[in-house]
Amino acid sequence: MKKILDCIAEAMKPAFTACGYDDGYARVTLSNRPDLCEYQCNGAMAAAKTYKKKPIDIAAEVTERLLAGPQKDMFAQVTAVMPGFINIRLAEAYLASYLTDMEANPKYGLEETGKGETVIVDYGGANVAKPLHVGHLRSAIIGESIKRLGRFLGYNMIGDVHLGDWGLQMGLIIEELKDRKPDLPYFDQTFEGEYPPEAPFTISELEDIYPAASAKSKEDEAFKARAQEATFRLQNGYEPYRAIWRHIMNVSLADLKKNYGNLGVTFDLWKGESDAQQYIPGLIEDLQKKGLAYESQGALVVDIAKDTDSKELPPCIIRKSDGAALYATSDLGTLIEREKEYSPSKYIYITDKRQELHFIQVFRTAKRAGYVKEDTPMIHLMFGTMNGKDGKPFKTREGGVMRLEHLVADINEAVYGRIMENRTVSPEEARKTAGIIGLAALKYGDLSNQASKDYIFDMDRFISFEGNTGPYILYTIVRIKSILAKYRELGKELSDGGKLLGAAGEAEKNLMLQLTKYNEVIENSFAETAPHKICQFIYELSDVFNKFYNSTMILKEEDEARQASFIKLITLTKGVLETCIELLGFEAPERM
Ligand code: ARG
Repeated sequence: MKKILDCIAEAMKPAFTACGYDDGYARVTLSNRPDLCEYQCNGAMAAAKTYKKKPIDIAAEVTERLLAGPQKDMFAQVTAVMPGFINIRLAEAYLASYLTDMEANPKYGLEETGKGETVIVDYGGANVAKPLHVGHLRSAIIGESIKRLGRFLGYNMIGDVHLGDWGLQMGLIIEELKDRKPDLPYFDQTFEGEYPPEAPFTISELEDIYPAASAKSKEDEAFKARAQEATFRLQNGYEPYRAIWRHIMNVSLADLKKNYGNLGVTFDLWKGESDAQQYIPGLIEDLQKKGLAYESQGALVVDIAKDTDSKELPPCIIRKSDGAALYATSDLGTLIEREKEYSPSKYIYITDKRQELHFIQVFRTAKRAGYVKEDTPMIHLMFGTMNGKDGKPFKTREGGVMRLEHLVADINEAVYGRIMENRTVSPEEARKTAGIIGLAALKYGDLSNQASKDYIFDMDRFISFEGNTGPYILYTIVRIKSILAKYRELGKELSDGGKLLGAAGEAEKNLMLQLTKYNEVIENSFAETAPHKICQFIYELSDVFNKFYNSTMILKEEDEARQASFIKLITLTKGVLETCIELLGFEAPERM
């Protein structure tokens, strides 16, 4: 379906042409004076320069033409005002017909602009065997939303978790394990049998092993050197360590899947840095052959600076002087694999903004070397830090790094407490509902901020049922569900064939106008990788709905046709809200 702004512009074009002006001037925007009009066209101002006339004369001429022409029924009011604006109000009947079309169309008239184009979304980025912490939360939440959004628009979205599974943490774990359980066959050089299929640790042991090893390596130089050596041997295919690595992966992945699952986050690919290693030798050789990689202070580097850069950008390091490959090398290897297997038309990476330089280096190197086509968009969606109320990166009360599971549990507990204050539902139902609301509070609290900005994690605000919060949106949906249930209890059915009538009052019209923005908002938020625009839209939608609700006796309305129209309108509102929260990655409970 066409966007409402385009529909209005289309209607205005013939009036511009008939008056002898180019129809490119018939652009329409939302009004920035909602007290005066709903939409405005500023084309007369621009046309004035070209046609050397007073803007107000052009505006008046076009307005007169429009109101004399066949499109006039679309408008309730069109006026030319000084210095040359055309102010527009839509006709109630036209608005109702636009919404009727929305309702009748799949996806409420949203066009599938993606047409099966493949897009890789690299998000999550958990590091194997290290606990998921709040730093990984933003990537998971934002990425999941972008993936759902693109998929809804018809793109073939491939979400890849891109695990950190090849670093020093592996060597640290191996050496710590050796200290704790020296008798394991992996450490017996004379062992010739099959390694046991079961892991030599549980997830809780593993969760204890890594932090202990990491702490030890900071104090004990010899231990650190051993861990580096173990990492090196693992990376060079030493079979006993590969066997331990596989155990670490299995145990850790099961836990990661559970954790991401609790957040409603799923991935199509569970690939990681380790999968890129097979491409690295060829990659290095190729970069050298192409004359892009050269030795600098013992390391192998590729220049990425451009004349147009405003600051000096250091080269991308491909190989360190000790021969080790780096994070950037892994990312380049991964790109070679992604091109080979999916040849995507776009890439979106979602990480902390501290990785900005890293991705500039990787993207430029990939393009210089021709691994990724010059015109393939490579987007690094950078997000800011989640801070505590003190403005510093979010920590536990004890000052440690907050584990994701604990954060989720804390929110659910707080929501549970709030629900139980009213004591209208059983504790079991309250628990279940608290989980749903808690997730919405957490995700909305994050997504409603422009991703690149830091934000303050304010639990009390996030779980509030009022204001720009997830629970407020859910509350609005639940309110609509309850009206619809009561309508059914009155013995009425929505399939009665009711028709959506033109708005009877201002609050109703405002709700209708807001609903028409839907397709534009969804398209823009994907094009700009900006889920916060969906949040803003549904916050405003909830607000106009609640104003309508407060000013309208929906269930007491005596005019049956009018009542059926209200029901249709709020059903559409519910559908749009539910669609949007699904794209954000959460859902609404039945009651709250
Ligand atoms: N594992 C990384 C980290 O925790 C994030 C990975 C992001 N993706 C990528 N392709 N580099 O910082």
